[in-house]
This record gives sequence, structure tokens and C-alpha cells, in this order.
Amino acid sequence: MVTHKFWILVLVVVIFIGNMSYIYYNNIKVASLLGFIQSSELQNVTDTKPVTVPRLTGMWTVGPAGRLGNLMGEYATLYALAKLNGHQAYINQNMHNQLSKIFKIKLPVINDEAISRIRWRDYWLHDWMSPEYANIQGEFVRLGGYPCSFTFYDHIKNEILEEFTFLDYVKEESYAYLDKARGDRENVTFVGIHVRRGDYVHVMPNTWKGVVADKGYLDKATDYFRQKYENPLFIVTSNGMDWCKENMNNSRGDIHFAGDGHEGSPGRDFALLAHCNHTIMTIGTFGVWAGYLVGGETVYLDKYVLPDSPFLKVFKYEAAFLPEWIGIPADLSPLTGKKDTN
Ligand SMILES: *[C@@H]1O[C@H](CO)[C@@H](O)[C@H](O)[C@H]1NC(C)=O
Ligand SMILES: *[C@@H]1O[C@H](CO)[C@@H](O)[C@H](O)[C@H]1NC(C)=O
Ligand SMILES: *[C@@H]1O[C@H](CO)[C@@H](O)[C@H](O)[C@H]1NC(C)=O
Ligand SMILES: *[C@@H]1O[C@H](CO)[C@@H](O)[C@H](O)[C@H]1NC(C)=O
Repeated sequence: MVTHKFWILVLVVVIFIGNMSYIYYNNIKVASLLGFIQSSELQNVTDTKPVTVPRLTGMWTVGPAGRLGNLMGEYATLYALAKLNGHQAYINQNMHNQLSKIFKIKLPVINDEAISRIRWRDYWLHDWMSPEYANIQGEFVRLGGYPCSFTFYDHIKNEILEEFTFLDYVKEESYAYLDKARGDRENVTFVGIHVRRGDYVHVMPNTWKGVVADKGYLDKATDYFRQKYENPLFIVTSNGMDWCKENMNNSRGDIHFAGDGHEGSPGRDFALLAHCNHTIMTIGTFGVWAGYLVGGETVYLDKYVLPDSPFLKVFKYEAAFLPEWIGIPADLSPLTGKKDTN
């Protein structure tokens, strides 16, 4: 009899504990669901249907190609298109190594061996958003191309900017550098300038019937900021710093050649530009990303290839530069032989 009573007691206790933990568990679920709904209401989600939790399946990735600016474009495009199609984005180790040097990126990394064993559907993208990209089929898709256009990801700009949040040490280095460059000047407005030269100096005219930024463009772009702001200080980064020093008019002493004229590491140069207040870009995705992250005024070189250039088959000005950015048309006379009248 005694053992019988004992087992009934045990049974009662077990049922009691079971019920309590069930109630506790469900309360947690309800609480976290409420938390999700509240936080998405607060954030003013411009995305569609904020309350449905998307179930992300499969693995989408991108075959990384190029240097920092291109990698950022590929990362952002993968992030946006995977999300749009309801799949989980992953990046490879190499892309992670490059971008995590300066950014607090959060996409998970896929192991190299796993990449080689998965049977990917390779999907080539051109550099502007197209309706069919909202309906890409496949659980294991590897995007390719050199996508960078804001048309892929501008609708989730806040998320993209959060991915490209600088690591604290990079932020501190940039502020310290700008502070030193400012010296005793007061109320300075920093204008970051990226002058892309290097291989482009030959590639633009020879392959693309185009030009790179010249002295005339840089004079006009800097004068725009001189007229608009009291004390502009131009922070120049370039992979052709000698050319910059010879061709940029520093008679006012408001141009600072970053890194004493030696080419800095791309990550450091990029962080410097991104911590300025406004941007002057020339050509290339590096400058485009600086302008996008800074969010101030961006001046860009416009119409820098001839109308019959093959470049225009892979590139659209209106998909590369935001509508509010300020374009200064390039002087194409070195290509046409006609003197520019601007
Ligand atoms: C949310 O964003 C939209 C579009 O940008 C804007 O019109 C609206 O005023 C915003 N709402 C709140 C509550 O901030
Ligand atoms: C600082 O510069 C800005 C932009 O040039 C100008 O609008 C503002 O009046 C200046 N402030 C002071 C205190 O000089
Ligand atoms: C440089 O700018 C100054 C104005 O600060 C101007 O007087 C001078 O002519 C310019 N020099 C060249 C070579 O453009
Ligand atoms: C301009 O940039 C500097 C350096 O990042 C920053 O300290 C300052 O607050 C910015 N000024 C404005 C008006 O945003």
C-alpha cells in the first residue's frame, strides 16, 4: 500500500511540473512573437508584409570577383536578392576575409569544401535590377557578374548600411586621421575625393571608348563645394597619387593628399572617404560605395564613354548613380578630337 501511494504522488508531481513547463514555454513563445511585432512596427519597415516571418530556405551565394567596391556590390546584391526570393544568403571564406577586415558584416560563411560539393545553379546578373530577378528558381543558387547597382538593394538601404558598419577600430582611426588633417581649421566640411587611375587610364580609352576623370573635372567638382561650404577640406585618395599632386590645384591649401601621397591600403582609404561629409567620385565602384555610405552630396563624372561604347551594354548611368547625385559630364574631346566647349 505504501509503495502504491508513493507512485501516485510521483505521478501527480510529474504532471504538475509538465504543465508548468508547458505554460512557461508557451509564454516565452508568445512574448518573443510580441517582441518581434513591436520591434518591426517601430522600425517603419518599408519592406513588404512586416509581420510574416519569412522562412529562408536553401543556400544562395555569390561568386566573388574584383576588389573592395565590387565585393561590396556583390554582397549587397546577394543579400537583397536572396531575401527577395526567400532564401538564406551565405558568403564564401574569401569574401568574408576581405570584408570583415573593416565591416561588421553578418551573413554566415559557407565552407570551401561545401561549396565544391554543392551542385549550384549558376545565375548571371547584369548590373541593374530586372523584374525576373524577383523570381529566380532554385534552392542552391550562385549569383555571378559584377552587380553593384543601388537598384538591387536601395529598398532595404538601412539593412545594407548596417552590414557595412565599420569596426570600431576603423572608425577611430578614420576620425583620428581627419582630426589631424583638419589641424587648426574651424568648422571644416570634409569632402572625400576618390581618383581612380591605375589600369583604368588605359582600359577606358582602349577597351571602352571612354575617359577617366581629368583636371577639368576635378576643378569643377572641387569648386562646387568651395562655393557652397565655408571651409571645405578635400581628402584625396587615389591609386595614382603622383598624378593627383601634379594636376589638382592646391593654391588655396584646402586639398589634403591622404597618406602623404603614398597609396594607402584600400580598406583604410575607403574608411577615410566614408567618414567625410560629402563625396567626389570619378569612376569605379569604390567611389560609388563611398558616396552611398556617406549619404551627403555626391558629385560624379557623367557620360564618360562615347554613345556607341560597348560599355553601355553592361552599364547604365541611371542604375549606377542615385538620382539626387550631381553629375558633371566628362570631356570626351580626347576621343573625338573635337575641342570641348564646356
Ligand atoms: C515610414 O516611411 C514612409 C516612407 O518613407 C513615410 O512616408 C512615413 O511617414 C514613415 N512613417 C513613420 C511612422 O515614420
Ligand atoms: C559652418 O559652415 C557651414 C557650411 O559652410 C555654415 O553654414 C555655417 O554657418 C558655419 N558655422 C559657423 C559657426 O561658422
Ligand atoms: C589655381 O587656382 C588659383 C585660384 O586659387 C588660380 O588663380 C590659378 O590660376 C589656378 N591654377 C591653375 C593652374 O589652374
Ligand atoms: C562631418 O564629418 C566629421 C568627421 O566624420 C564629423 O565629425 C562631423 O560631425 C560631420 N559634420 C556634419 C555636419 O555632419
